[in-house]
Amino acid sequence: MCGIVGAVAQRNIVPVLLEGLKRLEYRGYDSCGVAVHHDGLQRARSVARVAELETQVAHSHLSGSTGISHTRWATHGAPVTDNAHPHFSPDRDGIDRIALVHNGIVENYEEIRNELKALGYVFHSQTDTEAVAHLVCHLYDGDLLRTVQKAVKRLTGAFAIAVFCKDEPHRVVGARQGCPLIVGVGDGENFLASDAMALAGTTNQIIYLEEGDVVDVQRDFVAITDRNDQPVERKVLTVNAYSGAIELGPYRHYMQKEIFEQPRAITDTLEGVVGFDPQMFGADAADVFSQIDSVLILACGTSYYSGMTAKYWLEAVAGIPTNVEIASEYRYRTPAVNPNALVVVISQSGETADTLAALKYAQELGHKHSLAICNGGTSAMVRETTLAYLTRAGVAIGVASTKAFSTQLTALFLLTLTLAKMRGKLTPEQEKQHLKNLRHLPTALQSVLALEPQIIAWADAFAQKENALFLGRGLHYPIALEGALKLKEISYIHAEAYPAGELKHGPLALVTKEMPVVTIAPNDTLIEKLKSNMQEVRARGGQLYVFADADSHITSGDGLHVIRLPEHYGLLSPILHVVPLQLLAYHTALARGTDVDKPRNLAKSVTVE
Ligand code: M6R
Repeated sequence: MCGIVGAVAQRNIVPVLLEGLKRLEYRGYDSCGVAVHHDGLQRARSVARVAELETQVAHSHLSGSTGISHTRWATHGAPVTDNAHPHFSPDRDGIDRIALVHNGIVENYEEIRNELKALGYVFHSQTDTEAVAHLVCHLYDGDLLRTVQKAVKRLTGAFAIAVFCKDEPHRVVGARQGCPLIVGVGDGENFLASDAMALAGTTNQIIYLEEGDVVDVQRDFVAITDRNDQPVERKVLTVNAYSGAIELGPYRHYMQKEIFEQPRAITDTLEGVVGFDPQMFGADAADVFSQIDSVLILACGTSYYSGMTAKYWLEAVAGIPTNVEIASEYRYRTPAVNPNALVVVISQSGETADTLAALKYAQELGHKHSLAICNGGTSAMVRETTLAYLTRAGVAIGVASTKAFSTQLTALFLLTLTLAKMRGKLTPEQEKQHLKNLRHLPTALQSVLALEPQIIAWADAFAQKENALFLGRGLHYPIALEGALKLKEISYIHAEAYPAGELKHGPLALVTKEMPVVTIAPNDTLIEKLKSNMQEVRARGGQLYVFADADSHITSGDGLHVIRLPEHYGLLSPILHVVPLQLLAYHTALARGTDVDKPRNLAKSVTVE
């Protein structure tokens, strides 16, 4: 959600600020802007994409060696130029003094806004951010670091800010409270960003700020103070990420690239796995796993659906009672706490505000054991949990989650089998067979990806529709939910998923010949039940689009369209069956001409509540 880049250098820093924004644009694309120090504060803002801002900047010859930039996902106020960051605040003579960008939400902004309005400050936007800019300006005492330290103590909410002042031209100050902020250490130049990816190719020397940190970034030094304003040292890490990883290569969209990267991502996620040893979840995992009697999964969106799938595995294979909760609900309810439950948070980014808050809430309630299944190796979630398994999906840019899901499932399957083994529910033969199936998974995925041309042939029919139903049963019900989420998220077709047995309890009323009904038909123990559910749809004239395992013996017919997957893949079947649904959503969105990687109103990494 939103992206921040800041820099203090001796060269013109605008290209670095814009390049950083391009890399962060998928995090929020309602507007973007850049401000520099050049004979005072100058800025350019746009409600179009960063490429357009770049043109604007080139025409206006904006340049400077100190600056900040921002790409916005709107929370307070519509996506219009007045609400775009950076926000300025003028001094008493009306000359712009403070420039500020902000990620997250300042909850008490109205109170601050009213106070400052009463003091004569004029507001040009509806944002919470402008209140912070004016607050910093109001408190400014000649030292920007001291001023920001004071200002952030007035703010409640979860946020990260970067700010500079016309009176201190070689300094940018940043603060982190609930939203990620990193420092990039250069040679005679230093940087701030909301993600290290923004600085790929500029510096790989990265400091991850901690909660409550305020940082003073100047050309030749970086100084950090903690929430008590005490100087602290934070480690400089070498983060060799991303620049290659964000190239599109032969693909049209990041989503397509990420779908096709899944065999590689799963291979990487399984790297080093030679058996189901608790050690892979952390040094203390064996000890923790032997103390737990249940699992509590907390997650949002697609990650929640991977948690739902894991519940089926954990209960059936490891015999361990499992609850799965939507993080944004859990964090505000009063659950009955079992301190012996293992709290598992699942997240691609590891920075999702609701999941992070739910984790902290669970810890406050007395949960001692926690595990993150996460793609963001240096993320807040990984830091806050006692155990972690890092999925190696690689950089994920398309807003619609694809490879994050399949790698999460892979990691959750490893967790299931590790717990099953520890609980005496896995024979050596079964362990061997599961390992073999896991190792073969990338190859099996390749054959599912090869179905793309058949799926493209369906996408045109889907593109004409405004509604769709997705059906699955058992282990594949969460896959139906994920398929429906993918379709609605990027094609804007209203899609709903049901466990197929639930049809006759209400949703069957929606079925007409206009309603495409996507059915996930693995050849598992529920296949005959599912076939009966399909008959219920056919009898009402519904159009069935079925992804069937080759050995499930479902053949095309009137109102029944079938794409055949390989033979049934047992417990790992959900990882295969989700892929055609991702491709169906992708090609339907393409046919409808939507912005596949940046669907309207959404953003990657939901770091606000
Ligand atoms: O980074 P996370 O996995 O915690 O993100 C959770 C959801 O915001 C995310 O999965 C979202 O639902 C995706 N856009 C779905 O495609």
